[in-house]
Amino acid sequence: MYKGAEFGELSPHPFAMADRAYRLMMNYGTSQAILVSGESGAGKTESTKMLMQYLAFMGGKVESDGRSVQQQVLESNPVLEAFGNAKTVRNNNSSRFGKFVELQFDQNGKISGAAIRTYLLERSRVCQISDPERNYHCFYMLCAAPPEDRERYKLGDASLFHYLNQSNCIKLDGMDDSSEYIATRRAMDIVGISSDEQDAIFRVVAAILHLGNVEFSEGSEADSSVPKDDKSQFHLRTAAELFMCDEKSLEESLCKRVMVTRGESIVRNLDSRAAALSRDALARMVYSRLFDWLVNKINTTIGQDPTSKLLIGVLDIYGFESFKTNSFEQFCINLTNEKLQQHFNQHVFKMEQEEYTKEEIDWSYIQFVDNQEILDLIEKKPGGIIALLDETCMLRNSNHETFAEKLYQKFKDNPHFSRPKFSRSDFTIHHYAGNVTYQTDLFLDKNIDYAVNEHQDLLHASTSPFVSSLFPPSEESTKSNKSTKFTSIGSSFKLNRTTLHALHKA
Ligand SMILES: Nc1ncnc2c1ncn2[C@@H]1O[C@H](COP(=O)(O)OP(=O)(O)OP(=O)(O)O)[C@@H](O)[C@H]1O
Ligand SMILES: [Mg+2]
Repeated sequence: MYKGAEFGELSPHPFAMADRAYRLMMNYGTSQAILVSGESGAGKTESTKMLMQYLAFMGGKVESDGRSVQQQVLESNPVLEAFGNAKTVRNNNSSRFGKFVELQFDQNGKISGAAIRTYLLERSRVCQISDPERNYHCFYMLCAAPPEDRERYKLGDASLFHYLNQSNCIKLDGMDDSSEYIATRRAMDIVGISSDEQDAIFRVVAAILHLGNVEFSEGSEADSSVPKDDKSQFHLRTAAELFMCDEKSLEESLCKRVMVTRGESIVRNLDSRAAALSRDALARMVYSRLFDWLVNKINTTIGQDPTSKLLIGVLDIYGFESFKTNSFEQFCINLTNEKLQQHFNQHVFKMEQEEYTKEEIDWSYIQFVDNQEILDLIEKKPGGIIALLDETCMLRNSNHETFAEKLYQKFKDNPHFSRPKFSRSDFTIHHYAGNVTYQTDLFLDKNIDYAVNEHQDLLHASTSPFVSSLFPPSEESTKSNKSTKFTSIGSSFKLNRTTLHALHKA
């Protein structure tokens, strides 16, 4: 119905939008970008899939082996959703990463290649979830796999695993994890992930679950730690088996840390609390490397067409979020949406209206709220919230209350910032989409992303070529300086502007 129909003639539909983008590209030879926006649960991901379905229909080539580019692009969705989507309060299938898909077309308007770029996955979810949310779908799928697979990966019921049972929600209405497991495997086949690779991937997923069940108690030396009991020892052993690394080295990488001062390395014990944090950092690191591997693999098998001059890009990000309690993740996601809104304002309102004025076209101005001041509040350097957070993270003896105090003082007269009544450490930002109150309790911990060298070395030495390849020797560890590197997640979000560059290009 929508194919070739005049835009606006039929009722609004993603197909109408996709048809328009395709026609503009073909008729004028200009690349297009479609930006899907809306708050969490609005339907961005579903709409994106329809857009891609339509473009695949218009630009699809008939191929005999059933693995056409368009089919691979469509099947990349279930794979990425299995590893990057999860149930939140707002949406049972909430995207926890951003995605920009670029479809490349040849001169005849047929799809000749595609590239998928993803933006920071929410890593904290791997080790920490709260009721009634869930961890990433793939964990539950694997726990609901056929018995022979569960045995292979040494898994039982999902409710046995700490990373999953922190929330009471294990099953989702209308989603059958065991059939999703089969469907994900099939989609992996189509996008070109071999069965050996699939096996290696699921071993890692299972290893993460076992790792999460390792608890620590005080060791014999002061401030040291050891696996708590036989059960923890069992999970440690199983995790090591699945990662194909040495069990003792795994234990040491969790319970000890090598410090380098003035060229000398000293092995320091970690207490049980620090060991548990080290365990969670390892789990998050492995999972995010796994996710990046998947994206890379999909890009390699689909293949790019370097000669293509006609592109259609589709951007689907994590939507604006406002929950009862909002932490650092919501802060980052809302910053992304705030930036996208600005891009939209810039193009749709400012530039269009300037154009009309220049051409002296009579036109009634649309009032819009410029959100530059909110962006300044968050990301101005120096002095914005992220800069203050990074500063606080690097200071000794600082905590979330000192961070909040800094914000209260600095922004007491800022119209986009307020301190909720009676609150000691919460703050509210008046976003373009509404007010959101953030709880700062975990902001510092979550902003610091330690790449621990011991973890890196341990997994690089894995006898599984797959695991080893997820941890290529880093520049840091080849240098003599073996200190632990601090990266600010907040600043990485700020730097994640490639999306906008890609949109500009289009
Ligand atoms: N066109 C549609 N028809 C039927 N159901 C839909 C449609 N769009 C969305 N839904 C329903 O709403 C749910 C949420 O949609 P979707 O996952 O696309 O939201 P989103 O905007 O991508 O949210 P997030 O920002 O959390 O990723 C879907 O799982 C589906 O149940
Ligand atoms: Mg989504």
